[in-house]
Amino acid sequence: MKTTYKLISKIGEGGMGVVYLAIQEPLGKQVAMKFLPQSVAGPAQVARFQREVQAAIRIRHKNVIKILDCGQKGDQHYYVMEYLEGYRTILQVIEDEGRLDWARGSSIMEQVMDALDACHESCLIHRDVKPQNIMVSDQGHMVLMDFGLVKVTDADTLTAAGKIMGTPSYIAPEVFLARDITSAADQFSAGAVFYELITGSRAFEGATVADVAHAILRNQPVPLAQIDGDLAPYQSILDKLLSKYPEDRFRSAREAADVLRTSRTLAWREEISEAEAPGPRSPTRRVRKTELARVPELANIQMDPRSASSLAWPRPLTRKPIALLIVALLSIVGASTSLWTWSRNNTGSSTIVPQIPPASAFDQQVMARSPQSSHRTWRNSAMRRRYWTGSLLSPSI
Ligand SMILES: Nc1ncnc2c1ncn2[C@@H]1O[C@H](COP(=O)(O)OP(=O)(O)OP(=O)(O)O)[C@@H](O)[C@H]1O
Ligand SMILES: [Mg+2]
Repeated sequence: MKTTYKLISKIGEGGMGVVYLAIQEPLGKQVAMKFLPQSVAGPAQVARFQREVQAAIRIRHKNVIKILDCGQKGDQHYYVMEYLEGYRTILQVIEDEGRLDWARGSSIMEQVMDALDACHESCLIHRDVKPQNIMVSDQGHMVLMDFGLVKVTDADTLTAAGKIMGTPSYIAPEVFLARDITSAADQFSAGAVFYELITGSRAFEGATVADVAHAILRNQPVPLAQIDGDLAPYQSILDKLLSKYPEDRFRSAREAADVLRTSRTLAWREEISEAEAPGPRSPTRRVRKTELARVPELANIQMDPRSASSLAWPRPLTRKPIALLIVALLSIVGASTSLWTWSRNNTGSSTIVPQIPPASAFDQQVMARSPQSSHRTWRNSAMRRRYWTGSLLSPSI
């Protein structure tokens, strides 16, 4: 028998469409249907949408929204998902209850990481992890929504459409710089959500899109210790998630989930031992850093010794100063030798040799690190120049 959907009521609306509660007939089952806005339904987006829905349908994970079906009604594209009755988005939770304590916040984030790991294992990058796309039940069960269905946060769309859809506060630095997007971009976004969840404030803020992008590329969020001393031991976990460099984040969402799980177990053990300890109870409970360091996964996480300013893009070439010094000395010796040879061979000649400007250190880095086509390399360095000259971050984005 043919499946049909009867729309009941509108549940909500976001930047990428409208969500309705519907009844799936003939089963009589409640489902949620999300309709894409026609403005993003060009042929390329529709093809991508269908490809990614097919991939998403295959993911079966307790923390990932179940996509049940997709189709077209008139010229409107939609997908059907399970209806999460009684769940609230993280945004609603923060609005209703303020910031969550570490135990609750890290429990939710652990599930987010589990969900991301499932997506990454299926070669899907979510690309839009934000508080509006994370729903939780009152019992603490988390469901990640809208994963990788429509690519709206990548640099191609950013520059091609000339504007950012949705909030840019959770977008990873490499996305702004049009670098290759890997699953590590999701870790950064999840880290920004996590920060907001346990502090009640956004990690990166600004009055305009350009200000937010600048904060993401250059600034560090207010340290956890300044917000709540009890959160201080967890700073290194946030630092790793929010590293400006994808390669400095956790090796995988799975690793991040494991670390969060361990930290929560420790916090819980500490609470028990304090409760059992004789004498007056300490007014503030702190997980000691020494104790965290005893756990192998956490011991590997070190605070980044570089200052906030030195974390800025592009990555400064300060890692091998001695090697650089040797290269510079060799270059000077080579240049002097060539000049001496040339002057001996060309005495009296007045030919002017055109000067080719040397590639900048950053361009050399891009060329060395990027195995892609020369077009991609050119685009990366061109994007970078546009960033530094301010044109990429102009308010017209
Ligand atoms: N499967 C679902 N079950 C229950 N409620 C849902 C479901 N999907 C979405 N919602 C509700 O609908 C609202 C709008 O969701 P939607 O995904 O359209 O918006 P958004 O996440 O704010 O923006 P974006 O379109 O960029 O993802 C959500 O905030 C949530 O409250
Ligand atoms: Mg959404």
